[in-house]
Amino acid sequence: MLDRAAEIADDPDAVADRHRGKLLGTLFFEPSTRTKMSFTAAMKRLGGDIVDMGPVDQSSVKKGESLADTVRVVEGYADALVMRHPLEGSAKMASEFIDVPLINAGDGAGQHPTQTLLDLYTIRENAGFDDLTVGIMGDLKYGRTVHSLAHALTNFDAQQHFISPESLQLPRGVRYDLHEAGASMREHTELGGVLETLDVLYVTRIQRERFPDENEYREVAGQYQIDADTLDAAKDELTVMHPLPRVDEIAADVDETEHAQYFQQAHNGVPVRMALLDLILEGSA
Ligand code: CP
Repeated sequence: MLDRAAEIADDPDAVADRHRGKLLGTLFFEPSTRTKMSFTAAMKRLGGDIVDMGPVDQSSVKKGESLADTVRVVEGYADALVMRHPLEGSAKMASEFIDVPLINAGDGAGQHPTQTLLDLYTIRENAGFDDLTVGIMGDLKYGRTVHSLAHALTNFDAQQHFISPESLQLPRGVRYDLHEAGASMREHTELGGVLETLDVLYVTRIQRERFPDENEYREVAGQYQIDADTLDAAKDELTVMHPLPRVDEIAADVDETEHAQYFQQAHNGVPVRMALLDLILEGSA
């Protein structure tokens, strides 16, 4: 997949007409900028188009339509679906009601697998996968991009360091899966002492919207911020990534450093999602 994405990034014109006439149905039950727009751009750059459900409160979800009914209807309008939904497991559940492929664009605090594909692409471009040391910092409990990335990294020669407040450590299920997969992993509450060993630092936002209690959010908000001075202790070639959006966890002065790759990371979403859609739509040609 990553090789195919690199080929497409090198020569996008070669696939500009590849899926002309095909339609991608986009259903976003939660806000999105990058995932939705990059899937849209990817589909259009393959010669296809999208049909979008639009904002949830202007759809028939507002009238009480179930998710199962919504996807059963929308599968008749498109060749594949992309769905983001606040409930963990919703993408898997929805896919069981339909025959067209459904891509999980984020299911609550569960997984965000296509973000992981572009994260892996970015890691490969910047650090490679040999003897890799990755630090993943921030909200490891509710951060779905973390869960997908941590799983994926078990397929590579990667040491993983998880840095978070104790209340936002990896969920037990994810930790169990990583142990089962033989992951090389350690957990920390401070970045100091780990930072200098890292090839990649993957920073995440504290997922305020997922906290059941605003007071719990306030207790951890503002912790785990980095700025350009923080990175003085890092290797020169450290790659700093973030799935974005950021709030205050990466200061703007980091943007000017050679370490910052998070905007390029977001841009990589287009060729990576083009490669994924190409693979999926090939089967429905
Ligand atoms: N990284 C990511 O999923 O961003 P959006 O929420 O803007 O799609």
